[in-house]
Amino acid sequence: MSAERWSPDSWRAKPIQQVPDYPNAQALSDVERELAGFPPLVFAGEARKLKKALAKVAAGEAFLLQGGDCAESFAEHSADNIRDFFRVFLQMAVVTTFAAASPVVKVGRIAGQFAKPRSSPTEKRDGAELPSYRGDIINGVDFTPEARIPNPRRQLKAYRQSAATLNLLRAFATGGYANLENAHRWMLGFVKDSPLSGRYQELAARITESLDFMRAIGLDPEAHPEMRQTDFYISHEALLLGYEQAMTRVDSTTGDYYSTSGHMIWIGDRTRQFDHAHVEFCRGVRNPIGIKCGPSLKPDDLLRLIDVLNPTDEAGRLTLICRFGSDKVGEFLPPLIRAVKREGKTVVWSCDPMHGNTISVGDGYKTRPFERVMGEIRNFFAVHQIEGTYAGGVHLEMTGKNVTECLGGAREISELNLQDRYDTTCDPRLNAEQSIEVAFLVAELLKKERAGKRVEVKAAE
Ligand code: PEP
Ligand code: CO
Repeated sequence: MSAERWSPDSWRAKPIQQVPDYPNAQALSDVERELAGFPPLVFAGEARKLKKALAKVAAGEAFLLQGGDCAESFAEHSADNIRDFFRVFLQMAVVTTFAAASPVVKVGRIAGQFAKPRSSPTEKRDGAELPSYRGDIINGVDFTPEARIPNPRRQLKAYRQSAATLNLLRAFATGGYANLENAHRWMLGFVKDSPLSGRYQELAARITESLDFMRAIGLDPEAHPEMRQTDFYISHEALLLGYEQAMTRVDSTTGDYYSTSGHMIWIGDRTRQFDHAHVEFCRGVRNPIGIKCGPSLKPDDLLRLIDVLNPTDEAGRLTLICRFGSDKVGEFLPPLIRAVKREGKTVVWSCDPMHGNTISVGDGYKTRPFERVMGEIRNFFAVHQIEGTYAGGVHLEMTGKNVTECLGGAREISELNLQDRYDTTCDPRLNAEQSIEVAFLVAELLKKERAGKRVEVKAAE
């Protein structure tokens, strides 16, 4: 199959899942044509740089931190939201970098994470049935017949919002906000009244000491760009292929096709059939690609996917984002690892501890017990330890806000608390403190992994 000719629209001849039912085909193709004339959001050279960084992760020399909203929303597009997310994300990176002495590759689920795959094409509420919400790039979240009709013009709005978000992120990453001395000051501000305060202040004090030490021996931290700025990349699920095709461009330096809608794109757990449209589209663009690996993925199908998407075994091209559930990792991950090892394929192994741990409680709130999220990460590291492979990353749904969407954590969010600040339009996210707690856990596990120590396999929840 990989020998077949690829073009940005060759996916259109393949079977496809999760397609919105646009009522007006002409309006859709008009929008796609308009998008195809817009400037790219990211450059091919940046995607190549990320691929190089991910090759380091594949080799066990760095760690991938990927995270952000389940779904970005038009209503929540404010500078404060973006800043709060970026700040917590950088804090997590600092915790991991410093506590585990590991470089961290930072990839947001942001500036393009709008389209959502759904388990059911319709949603029922109080006896009424309407098409499911598929993300702001497709239809509206309100439970009314009008809102749920897919509207192609939403793609133009998603493109503009992505451009504005990315613009601010680029400014934060390079304009002084990401300065390490700042990161450490935010830590102090953030933890004042947090149960994590003690651990946090200890780490902040060690960072201060290190910076003071550098100055004392005559190294000026300000003189090093690494201290003042950071590389931050954007990613999203490449679900809405008409949009993705419109954002695909030929790179003038190499003559290769790149997706310019994000540095990294991934294929969801529901759309990863190796001979279907989403895989067909992704095989032809040269960006780093993620594949969500859930319990239904068989080792042979994974190997086929790897052959189609990375026939030359290029390091950094593929990230396997494993999302089994805390109690299933021990059963489903080892056969995949063994198959990949046996065939000598180069991949990044990353852990999505969110999507296999979703439950419904109370009045139908979708939530995730924090202990299961932590448990899946622990079990993921433990399996890699046993198999002799490298647990290279985490993939999180998280926000910088103090939401109450996932149960537990240092503040012990209970079922009754969920209604307080349940703001997500899709899946429940870790709040700022829960995210930092995850970062501390990752740092601890990474440190042990690097020291070659065994991580105790915890009994499944
Ligand atoms: C997601 O990442 O939001 C998602 C839908 O994940 P998955 O494809 O793994 O279910
Ligand atoms: Co999600």
